[in-house]
Amino acid sequence: MKIFYFQAEEWEKGYVSEKLKDHSVTFFNNRLEDNTNLQDDEVEIVSVFVNCHIGKEEMDRFPKLKCIVTRSTGYDHVDIAEATKRGVVVSNVPSYGENTVAEFAFALLLAISRRIYDSFKRIKDTGIFSADGLRGFDLKGKTIGIIGTGKIGKHMIRMSKGFDMNIVAYDAFKDEKAAVELGFTYMTLDELLSASDIISVHAPYLPSTHHMINLENVAKIKRGAVLINTARGGLIDTAAIVLALKNGTLAGAGLDVLEEEGYLIDEDALLLSAHPNIESLKTTLENHYLMEHPCVIITPHNAFNSKEAIERIVLTSIEDIAGFVAGSPKNVVMVK
Ligand code: NAI
Repeated sequence: MKIFYFQAEEWEKGYVSEKLKDHSVTFFNNRLEDNTNLQDDEVEIVSVFVNCHIGKEEMDRFPKLKCIVTRSTGYDHVDIAEATKRGVVVSNVPSYGENTVAEFAFALLLAISRRIYDSFKRIKDTGIFSADGLRGFDLKGKTIGIIGTGKIGKHMIRMSKGFDMNIVAYDAFKDEKAAVELGFTYMTLDELLSASDIISVHAPYLPSTHHMINLENVAKIKRGAVLINTARGGLIDTAAIVLALKNGTLAGAGLDVLEEEGYLIDEDALLLSAHPNIESLKTTLENHYLMEHPCVIITPHNAFNSKEAIERIVLTSIEDIAGFVAGSPKNVVMVK
């Protein structure tokens, strides 16, 4: 089968070619949308990464397309309804180590709670070895609210236990057994927002989870809380984060994902488009406000990016491709 593999790293090319040696694999260093004129009448499988949008227009470029393999857990960048309509199978990597993202979420939290970035920057910028003005706060005894108690959320809960924190959680589909085993309490989203000193988001981005935290319920957040988001930007209305930082509801935020983060990779596309989308422009401006804010740490969607996780991601996506070719697709994503 003819396969197009986008955003391939150099080491990946040899590894994937070897594993899929009976197939014709063409590697691209960049994203599908960076190859604006690319079309192919023979390609049946495309493999993409998380920041590569595949909608109707992209699928139209490959009339024989039968399978999309995304090398990620989240699949909100693929138009699943359109793929299903065309009979195109979409496979993802449902799990590659929940610890990887949870460890990163904790790294963001600790960087904020103990002023790690500010401390490091003082030494780096000034060479002044002084802790004046760099006081943080302990995690022990604080309440952490976990939104989404799936694989990553549960790992966060285990880690939070290790820090002697109180744990509350919200999930649309409760796992009561886990609540007993791991020792946490489910509550409504509003209750969680009011009770938590730290809020960490681990739900998938779906139409039903769009702007779960928004301009209305942001006021429920306990004053001085810290918000961590390593899930998806669209789960939280960016305007709500800006408002909460401005009025002191939030004391800080650690964000690995942003709404409209795709435009931060290519802002020219937004600014120079014939009909710029006003909402996207507004969100991009708000993202810049957050980037400049002294109490916000933003990382470039990097939580998945550990050596061990990448090896597992690539291996599983090769298995996804091999499964599809063998007539038994694996890790198939369904319309919700
Ligand atoms: P999972 O599927 O194991 O858990 C998701 C949890 O969210 C489930 O317990 C589910 O019941 C819950 N949920 C579903 N709808 C909900 C709703 N309306 N309200 C509240 N909870 C709801 O997924 P996993 O592996 O824990 O990953 C979570 C998310 O993390 C992924 O969907 C992905 O978007 C994001 N992620 C981010 C990465 C990064 O590099 N920043 C890397 C990997 C995942």
